[in-house]
Amino acid sequence: MKMNEEKPVAVLSRAEKDNIDLTRVGPGTVMGQLMRCYWIPAALSSELQAGGDPMRLVLLGERLVAFRSPDGSVGIMDHRCPHRNASLFYGRNEEGGLRCIYHGWQFDATGACVDMPNVPKQHACPEKVKSQGYATHEEKGLIWVYMGDPAKKPPLPHMEIADANPEDLEIEFLLRECNYLQALEGDIDTSHLGFLHVGHVEPEQLNESDLMRYVVGNRAPELEVSDAPWGTTYCAAKEAGDGKSYLRFANFLFPFWTQAPQGEFETNIFSRAWVPLDDTHTMSVTIRWKKRPPVFKKMKDGNDLPGIAPIQYAPRTTDWFGRWAPVQNPRNDYLIDRDAQRDGRIYSGILCVPMQDQAVTESMGEITDRSREHLVPSDVMIARTRRRLLQAARAYASTGELPPGVQDPSIYRNARGGETLVDKGKSWPEHYEAQLREATRIPA
Ligand code: FES
Ligand SMILES: [Fe+2]
Repeated sequence: MKMNEEKPVAVLSRAEKDNIDLTRVGPGTVMGQLMRCYWIPAALSSELQAGGDPMRLVLLGERLVAFRSPDGSVGIMDHRCPHRNASLFYGRNEEGGLRCIYHGWQFDATGACVDMPNVPKQHACPEKVKSQGYATHEEKGLIWVYMGDPAKKPPLPHMEIADANPEDLEIEFLLRECNYLQALEGDIDTSHLGFLHVGHVEPEQLNESDLMRYVVGNRAPELEVSDAPWGTTYCAAKEAGDGKSYLRFANFLFPFWTQAPQGEFETNIFSRAWVPLDDTHTMSVTIRWKKRPPVFKKMKDGNDLPGIAPIQYAPRTTDWFGRWAPVQNPRNDYLIDRDAQRDGRIYSGILCVPMQDQAVTESMGEITDRSREHLVPSDVMIARTRRRLLQAARAYASTGELPPGVQDPSIYRNARGGETLVDKGKSWPEHYEAQLREATRIPA
């Protein structure tokens, strides 16, 4: 169901109009235009083999085909052959490019037609035909795509994690069956941690040094937010005793990135993209620095926190949404264990932290109806981020003003999320600056 698309625009409330502009990403939409200003992490390098099978790929509502030619170059283009629209997914991955199996036209990695063998030589005009191909870039195990105006191709975003050695990177893809924005909002919604993920944990079960004690010792954080060069930042503060405060910082970074406080600020070098596949499917792409310690520490009794488990992936298929789908999904209620929920072993009853997030955000509906929400002070980061995104998208659509980070991708480099214990006495932006100065950094 696509919310409100059956209603004429004139009768939509302002909140409904805002929600449409925030969530629709196809060609010609305001948010889709904004997203097309940036490079998009689209696939792992290992998903495409030289001369191997082409792969169905959906990005920003466009159905594409991705392939790696026998010479190693990557092509990403509209999956429909420009001759008569047969899918190039079935194409032959040959030397020189992908060849349509219908009449044999061939396209190189840029989408240019290089052979038209079903047409007598005097009539063949491959140079006049071009598939909608997109620029690609491959680096450190990731394939990036740029889907905007070729004349305005920007540099890649320069987040700190981008400077890590490839062998120090851990990259995780995971399909989520809902709109990108409600998925993204989970990472900037700090107060859910104390319920959804660790509602069953009490401070006395944790080691003295475990900062999670402050999360479960007071589950109602005070939140402050501000705009940042890269997007928005929040600081959630809790009283920690002895003149100290426990702080959690997190960022939203244009156009679809987050840095959640999943780990100590000192080493939490990590960025996550919420890549819109279409309006109702999102690929989260998490890039972590391997040298950071695990987010969830062992409890006092030496056991892992209940509910912690690795993601189980379903067998990969060649469907449009067949990559990186988890076993736990809405059709099996995420394998919820009601006994574990009832007896308090796992607050949500759902095993695996990312699956807990999947369950709540997917259950909001494919595109959640924000006009019926009741936001409270703990949602202030979410409200501000929506406003920032909407303003930037509308400004770009109406005046061409480029959104943050397109022209100057170095603005991302000082963005970091994480949790930390500080002596009281400074404002939170001062704490942020001080923590960053003292943190482990990866040299540019
Ligand atoms: S449809 Fe592809 S070559 Fe004819
Ligand atoms: Fe979460």
